[in-house]
Amino acid sequence: MDELKALEQQALAALAQAADETKLREWNTEYFGDSGKMKAAMGQIGKLPKDQKAAYGAEANRVKAALTAAYEAALKEAKEKALQASLTSNPYDVTLPGRPRTRGRLHPATQILRQIYAIFADLGFQIYRTREVETDKLNFEDLNMPAHHPARDMWDTFFTTTPGVVLRTHTSPGQIHVMKESGGKPIRVILPGMCYRNEAISTRSEIQFHQVEGLVVGEGVTMADLKGTITAFARRMFGPERQVRIRSSYFPFTEPSIEVDIDWPKDDPNRDRLTKGTGWLEILGAGMVHPNVLRAGGYDPDKVTGFAFGMGPQRMLMLKHAIDDIRLFWQNDLRFLRQF
Ligand code: DAH
Repeated sequence: MDELKALEQQALAALAQAADETKLREWNTEYFGDSGKMKAAMGQIGKLPKDQKAAYGAEANRVKAALTAAYEAALKEAKEKALQASLTSNPYDVTLPGRPRTRGRLHPATQILRQIYAIFADLGFQIYRTREVETDKLNFEDLNMPAHHPARDMWDTFFTTTPGVVLRTHTSPGQIHVMKESGGKPIRVILPGMCYRNEAISTRSEIQFHQVEGLVVGEGVTMADLKGTITAFARRMFGPERQVRIRSSYFPFTEPSIEVDIDWPKDDPNRDRLTKGTGWLEILGAGMVHPNVLRAGGYDPDKVTGFAFGMGPQRMLMLKHAIDDIRLFWQNDLRFLRQF
């Protein structure tokens, strides 16, 4: 019994000396570990005469409970002290204003694409995407340009190392994809996407740029529908007063082919520079879909007609914002991008 009392005193004294959590845990192992002193004291019970066992056991349990409680209280206190110390040595100023999150924004190309989608969606067009890596057949042949056709020179092409596979030079091959998937039903879609051309990069030409293609196919579709659609689009995009001028042109995949200009506002100081003094600016190419193209898409040119157009959103952005260098779009210069 005296040994138990001495053990208790010794343990409490040692506990009072343990300065931090590590030391406390060491103390715990010393007294309560598998080969600890408390365990050894409990083990004594077996060696005692029968009549002393009960009293010794009761006292041992009391000491055990007292030490456990003292240990737990000391541990809690040590943890609180450590927390206080860390808070005062490394103070946290809750009154500091938070760090503002930098807000992202849409790339100007995405913004204009969405404007174009919205306008054509109102006109009942669906948006359709097709691949950027195309076969020579779809990029040229099905668009009425057989191999060695001189019109292919209009597109400086990136050829891949796989024969017959190119990066699409325009979104027009999408016309063939849509027709093949529509299986003879009427079509009214726009096809936005990235195009690639093997150009010398300059302020006016890039090797990659967006196009938005349009395709309408059905019974009795006429040039008047094309003109009405383009005019509605131009006025929504560039202002309700815009006049549209149509010039005849040539594309292998349309017959007849046209180019569409809009008049540039007279009060814009950039008017002369942008329009080279003419007052008119080209915004897109278009035409009535060539019978060979309809056939390539599985449509019968004796039954249906169609119109198509192709425009360059980067070019439109340059017009709208008087941007004079097309290379700015893909350089990721935040000083440029933040202006939109
Ligand atoms: N694909 C032509 C180009 O890249 C643009 C174009 C012109 C598309 C007339 C058309 C069209 O659908 O009818 O220059």
